Parts: sequence; structure tokens; C-alpha cells
Amino acid sequence: MINILVLHGPNLNMLGEREPEIYGSQSLNELDSWLLKMCEEMGIKLRTQQSNHEGELIDAIQEARKWADGIVFNPGGYTHTSVALRDAIAGIGIPVIEVHLSNVDSRESFRRKSLISPVCLGKISGFGWRSYSLALLGIRDFVSDN
Ligand code: DQA
Repeated sequence: MINILVLHGPNLNMLGEREPEIYGSQSLNELDSWLLKMCEEMGIKLRTQQSNHEGELIDAIQEARKWADGIVFNPGGYTHTSVALRDAIAGIGIPVIEVHLSNVDSRESFRRKSLISPVCLGKISGFGWRSYSLALLGIRDFVSDN
């Protein structure tokens, strides 16, 4: 059994209401419930967390190094701006996969830049909810192999 944190960044608490044509019509609770159910069958003990605050996300990342084997992280808008989140990930020594619901590379040019990607194991973007399930599969197999 491996331990994974799924961490959602700013505005992801608004899923379902927020630009549903881009992010879908399902709520964050529905997404988390789906992931928790899937993880039971995948041999993953999952915790999920969301925050709109950069410092709280940093605390969650630092805390996860004490109990988690890896993190699946959607940094939301902080993807494109946060040196502090990048440094938090670089400092913890457990693998992090960056995920996005939308295909960030096909949208506005400012979304093509990620400060987070260079310190992550990989990035999955553009598959809606499935970005998370694909990342969970990837991190489970990576952790088992290493
Ligand atoms: C997002 C993409 C980001 O550019 C945006 O700021 C978000 C959501 C996504 O999941 O597609 O808040 O991370």
C-alpha cells in the first residue's frame, strides 16, 4: 500500500461553477470521491486537500514528505507564477506529478510557462478528471519500481 496526497490549488474549490466549458460541470467533492474510490482498487491510500493560499499549499507539501510516497498536484494559477511552490517541491525528495484539467499548452500564452514542471517527475494536462487518474497510475508504478 502506498500513500499519496492529491493537492488542489487555488480556485479548484469552484469546480462545477467555474468556467464549466473549460473545467467541467462536476464539483471538487465529486472528483475527490471518484479518486478515493479508484485508489481503493489501486492499492493507494489517498488523502486529498485543497487550498486557495500559497503558504498553506507549501505547508501541505512540506508535511507530505513525512508520510506520503508522492504527490499529485494541480497548482492552478500558481503554476505560472510561484517560485515558492517550485522551491517547496524541489526541497522534499518525494516525486510530484503536475496535473491540469485543461490543456494549458493550447490556451493563453501565459499558461504555457510552468515554474513547477522542471522540479516534477512529469506533467499530465488536458484530460479533465482523467489527468488525475493517469497521474495516480503513473506515480503508483513509479513508486513501486523505485
Ligand atoms: C488549471 C490550469 C491553470 O492555468 C489555471 O489557472 C487553473 C486550472 C487546470 O487544471 O487546467 O486554475 O490548473
